[in-house]
Amino acid sequence: MVESDAFHPRTKRAGWQGPVLSLLLFVAVLFTLPGLRTFLLPRQFGRYALLPSSVDSVETHDLNYAKGSANGAAMEERVLFLVPLRDAQAHMDMFFSHMVNLTYPHNLVDLAFLVSDTTDNTLAVLKQKISAIQADKDTKMHFGTVEIFQRDFGQAIGQGFSDRHGFEAQGPRRKLMARARNWLLSAALKPYHSWVYWRDADVEVVPPTILEDLMGHNKDVIVPNVWRPLPDWLGYEQPYDLNSWQESETALELANTLGEDAVIVEGYAEYATWRPHLAYLRDPNGDIHVEMPLDGIGGVSILSRASVFRRGASFPAFSFEKHAETEGFGKMCRRMGFSVVGLPHYTIWHIYEPSSDDLKHMEWMAREEERQRTEKLMQDDRDRNFKLGFEDVNAVWKLQKERLLGVE
Ligand SMILES: *[C@@H]1O[C@H](CO)[C@@H](O)[C@H](O)[C@H]1NC(C)=O
Repeated sequence: MVESDAFHPRTKRAGWQGPVLSLLLFVAVLFTLPGLRTFLLPRQFGRYALLPSSVDSVETHDLNYAKGSANGAAMEERVLFLVPLRDAQAHMDMFFSHMVNLTYPHNLVDLAFLVSDTTDNTLAVLKQKISAIQADKDTKMHFGTVEIFQRDFGQAIGQGFSDRHGFEAQGPRRKLMARARNWLLSAALKPYHSWVYWRDADVEVVPPTILEDLMGHNKDVIVPNVWRPLPDWLGYEQPYDLNSWQESETALELANTLGEDAVIVEGYAEYATWRPHLAYLRDPNGDIHVEMPLDGIGGVSILSRASVFRRGASFPAFSFEKHAETEGFGKMCRRMGFSVVGLPHYTIWHIYEPSSDDLKHMEWMAREEERQRTEKLMQDDRDRNFKLGFEDVNAVWKLQKERLLGVE
């Protein structure tokens, strides 16, 4: 330590006392001046190695509270609201409009965002939106704490909808997303959180009472149904999230035939699982309170008791019972004895995001429209001629008939 020389008191004393006293004095100086201590210790300890207050303050937390009750708001239970973000700039207005409308007491909601592998202005827009809401004149708008974490996980896959949703990309993609979720959770979960709510930024329609509604079921892990609207040429609406399902015999047999790192994904012909999906059980007029026990769950909107994570459940970034990420999380929670349910008739709506196939279809629709317009012009022409022809025939037939019947 070259720097330390400057602080060594020089003594003229001979023998062993000199170096020993110097050393003692050095140690004393080292541990009484936190700034100096940080300066003197080797770099590889990193900037967080020594937090100045770590020895000066003691925090105590009674973990017997923060249980997570059905009426969390009345019990003043804190919710950790987690949002993974990637190139989400376009959704920020909509997302924060939902946040403004959220009925759960804002001061009991702590927000934590993970911004990863982003090439657009997500971070800047996010910060600006947070500043605006936290500075709102109405203090009821202010959220508890807000944390933004940044970490890239590498782009194993492209950004296009089809790239992300193509069959081949699913396993590696889900494992990366699992890793991202675990980073966010482990960085943001505090001892005082009772509930953890995961939410995607690209949800278009969601009841402002979503937290109270899901909490009211008093389950360890709970998800709503997730659909998406469609352009009318596709039939108006469609299930979006096929990751919420009950296990089936067929899928278990399939799982046994796969390698240990394989990840089964739903919604692809390659893996026909014949599982009952939460999405398909939706009845638009059904009772929103109906519950369905689930094995796998989707990640668009998950409410979970914080204790689920404290007891060790996580999003597997590896093949757990042939599943990863949120589906693996659902399976793990079941194995750990937690209740995992979905609400088939309580629906939130993901934005419509056209796939490249949809875009091709839109192109085709435009061409088809043009073709039909031309066709119609030609048809009108034919109709006119036909009508003329028909009238002519009629006239001829009338004459013939009159002749046959001998009518004068
Ligand atoms: C929030 O509430 C306002 C007022 O009711 C409404 O106009 C707006 O659409 C809501 N935001 C979202 C994203 O639903």
